[in-house]
Order: sequence, then C-alpha cells, then structure tokens
Amino acid sequence: MVEVRLENVTKRFGRVVAVNNVTLEFPDGRFSALLGPSGSGKSTLLYLIAGIYKPTSGRIFFGDREVTHLPPKERNVGLVFQNYALYPHMKVYDNIAFPLRLRKIPESTVDAKVQEVAKLLRIEELLDRYPSQLSGGQQQRVALARALVKEPDVLLLDEPLSNLDALLRLTIRAELKKLQKKLGITAIHVTHDQAEAMSMADVIVVIDHGRVQQVGSPDDVYNRPRNLFVAGFIGSPPANMLHGHVHHSTAVEVEVAGARFQPREEYAKVLAEAGLEEVIVVFRPEHAQLSLEPSPNALSIVGEVYVVEPLGKENIVTMIVAGVPVKVVTPPDVRPQAGEKLYITVPVSRVMLFDPETELNLEQLAEPRGLCPD
Ligand SMILES: Nc1ncnc2c1ncn2[C@@H]1O[C@H](COP(=O)(O)OP(=O)(O)O)[C@@H](O)[C@H]1O
Ligand SMILES: [Mg+2]
Repeated sequence: MVEVRLENVTKRFGRVVAVNNVTLEFPDGRFSALLGPSGSGKSTLLYLIAGIYKPTSGRIFFGDREVTHLPPKERNVGLVFQNYALYPHMKVYDNIAFPLRLRKIPESTVDAKVQEVAKLLRIEELLDRYPSQLSGGQQQRVALARALVKEPDVLLLDEPLSNLDALLRLTIRAELKKLQKKLGITAIHVTHDQAEAMSMADVIVVIDHGRVQQVGSPDDVYNRPRNLFVAGFIGSPPANMLHGHVHHSTAVEVEVAGARFQPREEYAKVLAEAGLEEVIVVFRPEHAQLSLEPSPNALSIVGEVYVVEPLGKENIVTMIVAGVPVKVVTPPDVRPQAGEKLYITVPVSRVMLFDPETELNLEQLAEPRGLCPD
C-alpha cells in the first residue's frame, strides 16, 4: 500500500496533449475515482501510473519511491481493463496464476495464492473453465483476481464495469467497494459515469481536456463544484444554468429571468468586493420545486411546462424559462400540463453563482484558499 503522487505530469501524443501538467496525490489505502468524459485523458493518466506510458515530462512517485522510469513489472500494480483481456486459450486457473508464474514463484505457492484469491472473489467453482465459458460478470471477477493475486501496492481499474449490464454493474459496484475496504489497497478507478464515481469513491478527481478540474469527496464535488464544468458533469439530470445580472444597491441582488433575489451572504460579499455585473446562476433540478405562487427568501422564476417525464419514484419536468430549458425533479404526484405557467422556486442556500469569465464558483473567493491545490 502506498500513495501515488504525480508532479507536473504531461503526456503528449504528437500534437494531442492527453494529460496536461497534472499534479495530484491519490491517498494511501483509499478508493479514488478518476472521472471525466470520453477523451479527457483518464486512461492515459492510468497507464502513466501503471508504467505502460512514459510521461513527456513530470515525475511519478509511489510513496517515497520515484517510479517515473520504471517498467510496469517493477511497479507492482494490478491492472484491470474494460475488456478484461483474459487469455482465451488458458483456463481461469492459469489466467490467475499467470502473473505469479512470470515471476518464477514456486508452483505450491502459486496454487495457494490462486485458491485464496478465488475464494475472495467467489470464483472457486470456475477455475477449470475457459474464459469463453463465463458470463461478463464472471470474467470481470477473474480479471480482478488476476490483478489482485500478486498482492499489488496499487490497484488500477480502467472502466471495469462498463461492459456489464445495468443490474450487474450495481451489484459489482457495491462488491468492489467492499473488497477495496477489506483489503485496504490503494485503488484508482477510471470511469465516465458520475453516479459510479460518487457511489464508490472516497476521493473523486474530475478531469477534462487532460487537466484536473477538482479533487474532492463526493460531497465536495456535488455541493461545492469548483467550476461550471464540474457543476454540469456531476449530478443527473445536470445542474441548471441561467444568466444573471447583478444589482449593486444597498443589498446586492441578482436578477435572473425577470426575478430578483438576494444571494447567500458569502456570494453577496464576493459580488460586492469584485464589483461583478454578470453571473451564471446554477441550481440542481432536485433542489427546485414547482409552485403556483412565488416564495419569499428564495429564487422564484416563472417558467412554462414543456414536457413531463414520469420515472415512477419521481418526475422530471422540463420548464422553459426565457427560452432556456430548466429541469425540475418533482414528487410523482406533481404532473403539470404542458403549457402551464408555474413558479420554479429554489431556496437561496441551494443557489450557486459562477463567474462567466473564469467559470469558477464564486464561493471559493470568499475562502482564504481555493478548493483545489492547483
Ligand atoms: N496511443 C495514443 N496515440 C495518440 N493519441 C492518443 C493515444 N491514446 C490516447 N490518445 C488521445 O489522448 C486523448 C485522451 O485519451 P484517453 O486517455 O484514452 O481518454 P479517456 O480514457 O478519458 O477516454 C484523446 O484525445 C485520445 O485520442
Ligand atoms: Mg479510457
């Protein structure tokens, strides 16, 4: 077990900067998620840690040991790929034993270790089968067993659940989290699925265009997104964003879609100090309500019902506000008619304000230090 540290790591492929000057620490013994859209540089970052790629510049450390120039086999990492990459001509047993045999470990030790990890992953009954005789979920367990059998210092997972069907994904997600906690191994899990990252990880690293956007707990990235990208990427349906105009009178007020509200004190202070005229007003669909009357001490804007999507446990109502769609999650019994005019009401404590220029959450300007190390 070690922490994994990157210092100013950049990886270029020709003109493409896949990983752009990343400085970051994945804590010892914790489950970290590397979360970002497709093409954001997640896999490249993981393969840099594994030693499959060499950085163009920068340094990588496992604990105190610099590994920047070490080949994969000298790093003691366990790697699981999206497509499992099992050897089709080898039985499950031999697939799992393979990394140990590569190290010329005596066959009796190999057998003990294979049996132990098979028990841990509950695949003892499958050892005599070929990969083609296994379901996707079983193949995934075998791939995990093969990664864990050599007792790696770091477990690296590249979208390991994305080839599984939705139900199995939920099951394995919970098991994987449990397993990581049991082993206390440093794990880095690459995913583009924000719900997966939120549900599994102790630490979430949000990445876009090869750059770290925010590092934080699931609570941090949901409640205190550092910038507009994180605010829009975390949460489903995504956060609503509207343009707001700031009025600097006795009290600072923000006008959005014809309605005015007084923002939270931290925001009011930053707006007054910075003298900002324009802001992006952001709130989550699950924090808004629909009502017939405006509500005091809240952001209340008028919208027209566009469409209602019933999901059973709740509805997603799309409203049109000043030509812009705004989503609201309502209880199942709230089913307004298309064309109806209603107030969208959001408690001021749930309204976030961002700078349209820098795209940063203005909240962090109220704090002595930023939310992110860079
Ligand atoms: N071996 C490679 N050669 C050239 N470009 C690559 C290579 N691997 C990745 N890239 C590019 O680097 C960027 C990041 O890719 P990747 O790390 O695979 O993203 P992700 O895993 O987040 O989807 C993409 O623009 C991708 O096309
Ligand atoms: Mg990838």
